Formats: sequence, structure tokens, C-alpha cells
Amino acid sequence: MHILITGNMGYIGPAVVNQLRTSYPDSTLIGFDIGYYGNCITSTEVLPECRVDLQYFGDVRQFPKEILNDVDAIVHLAGISNDPIGNKFEEVTLDINYRASVNLAKRAKEVGVKSFVFASSCSMYGAADDSARAEKSPLNPLTAYAKSKVLTEKGLEPLASEGFKVTCLRFSTACGWSDRLRLDLVLNDFVACAVASKRITILSDGTPWRPLINVKDMARAIDWAIGRKVNDRGEFLAVNIGSDEWNYQVKELAETVARVIPDVDVSINKDAQPDRRSYRVDFTFFKTLAPNHQPAVSLIESIKELRDGLEAIGFKDGDFRNSRYMRLKVLTELQEKGLMDQKLQWIKPK
Ligand SMILES: NC(=O)c1ccc[n+]([C@@H]2O[C@H](COP(=O)([O-])OP(=O)(O)OC[C@H]3O[C@@H](n4cnc5c(N)ncnc54)[C@H](O)[C@@H]3O)[C@@H](O)[C@H]2O)c1
Repeated sequence: MHILITGNMGYIGPAVVNQLRTSYPDSTLIGFDIGYYGNCITSTEVLPECRVDLQYFGDVRQFPKEILNDVDAIVHLAGISNDPIGNKFEEVTLDINYRASVNLAKRAKEVGVKSFVFASSCSMYGAADDSARAEKSPLNPLTAYAKSKVLTEKGLEPLASEGFKVTCLRFSTACGWSDRLRLDLVLNDFVACAVASKRITILSDGTPWRPLINVKDMARAIDWAIGRKVNDRGEFLAVNIGSDEWNYQVKELAETVARVIPDVDVSINKDAQPDRRSYRVDFTFFKTLAPNHQPAVSLIESIKELRDGLEAIGFKDGDFRNSRYMRLKVLTELQEKGLMDQKLQWIKPK
């Protein structure tokens, strides 16, 4: 088995590599990444890429087809991964997340790849009333990022056919420790606030609903998707990934962090404009499809692993919202230093 993981040098990638190493011990794992966050390492042990068999550096917008020879499955994580970057780089987000993803899948199908797993997002449900969104609920993508995920799913669906299985995993918001930690994710932000300054400032009024999932559980879902049997479910599948117990309101998350980490103050911005990105999600379909790959990490465990990980790297930066733990910040700095152009392509040194 040869498995290609695009975007393996990000936040979720290291957990996916660890999971697949265990599930497919004899497989060849191949990484492909542009390396935007290459030096944003939070591992205290080894470079996470030591765990793949082969690492390519490149841009999915100019994907070299040769890499696909002998590949059986692709886990496609590469992309612009949040709303702030998508808002600043709308067209680039569509190019990377949508057009390049569909092109990659087309090439993969041509050369006989059998399974294509796409990292989609529950954010495509956008603003919703309090009832939980299931896969057939209307989509309401509010941002360029969410729109790129909707367009990609639409572009992938007609490609699925006998011998080319496509699984779109509509992930909840990720949380938990990673060898390339992000702190621009809600729970991670709260734990970092608690560890660095004993004060959690919620930027919204705290009422929005967010489904969450630990990165290890995302990796478990990816593992399931690679090997899933087609049966009566068909070659194309889009499925919400998370669990019903993990639908939280933002203020509940902050309060739970404050219960786990002592002496932490929680302040809610009562004057904040309502955050329109509020949605609860129904995960019944995933439970039916993958009873053996359901989320297993609890919220408390996720908070503790983040706390322990941050303490192990001596994290004390109360101003981390302006640091390289924020994906947008990293990209902006690379541009300001003249290392990257407006299209988020590396500028080659002369
Ligand atoms: N983290 C979440 O909460 C979450 C939730 C739902 C879906 N997802 C999706 O999962 C995927 C991975 O998320 P993440 O949190 O690890 O994000 P991340 O930003 O940490 O990692 C993305 C990786 O993709 C690479 N990449 C970006 N553009 C590329 C290009 N043009 N060519 C090659 N590589 C490129 C980056 O260098 C980075 O290593 C993304 O597609 C994201 O949209 C994430």
C-alpha cells in the first residue's frame, strides 16, 4: 500500500501519519507539502516528517503527476485552512483549495489511485438555527474558505466511479496537541490563554455553537475512509465527522478549560456582534458507517494534553494571537520578508 498525504506538514498531518503508520505498518507513506509552516514545530522529540518514507516539497497547484505512480490512496489535507486567510486571499484560496484539489483528483483517477479522502469542513453549514445539521441539510457557506470546500465536494462527486472511491470528511473544528500546533482554533486558543496568562478572553458573546474533534480522532476517521467498503453506500460519500457529545457553545468550552486549569478568569465580550458562524451538527450517519472509528478522546483529555504540551515547551506568550502559532500571521510575515508572493508562492532566491 502506497499512501500519499498532501499537506502533511501542518497541524493535522502529524497525527494522520502516526495513525496510518500503526494501521498500515508495511505501507509506504509519502508526504507532499509546500512547507508554509515548516519551522512552526512544537515537537520536543523529532522532526515530524521523519515518520514518512518519502517527503516531497511542492505546490498542489503544479502537482507533478509522476508522484502518483503506484499510489493507492490519497489523503488530501493541503490547503488554506481557515477563514482569516481565506478572507485575505480569496482567489488564492479558491485556486489551492478548490481548483487544485479537483485537478489532483482527476489525475489520481487517471493513473489508477483507488481511494481519495478529502479534508472537508462542517463550516459549510454556516449560520444555522439551533437544530443540528445533517449531511442533507442545506449548505450556507459564509466565507471564501467554506465556499471552497463546497465547490470542491461538488467537483469531486462526478469523478467518483467504480475503482475510484471519494470520501469527503466534513470535519468539526479541530483541537488537541500536535507536533505543529495551531492556536487559531477555539479550544487551543482558550488553553493557551489559560496557560500563558490565566485569563480567557472570549472574542464573541460566547453563544455560538461549535462541534469539535481531537486531531487523533480526525486521523482515526481518515483511516476508516481510506479502507471503507463501498457496499450500498456508493463510491462518493460526504459525511460529518465528530460526535453528538462534542457540540459545544463557545462559553462552555472556556468554562471547562477554567475548571481543568485552576485560577483562570473567563471574560465574555457582551458587546460583541453575534458571530454568524454558529452551527450544531448531527453525526448519526458517521456513527452508522464507522462504529469502530468513533471519536474516543474526551474534552477534558484534550484540554490536559494541550496544557501539558504547552508547559513542556515552556509556553508563556500572552501575546500569542500575534505569534507564529497563527497561520495567517505566518503567511503575512513570509510575504513581508519578501519570501512569498501575492499568490502565496515561494519567491526563488536570485
Ligand atoms: N483544523 C481544523 O479545524 C480543520 C477542520 C476542518 C477541515 N480542515 C482541513 O484539514 C486540512 C488540514 O488542516 P490543518 O489544520 O492541518 O491546516 P494547516 O494550515 O496546519 O496545514 C495545511 C498544510 O497544507 C499545506 N499547503 C497549503 N497550501 C499548499 C499548496 N498550495 N501546496 C502544497 N501544500 C500546501 C501547508 O503548508 C500546511 O502544511 C485543511 O484542508 C483544512 O481545511 C481542518
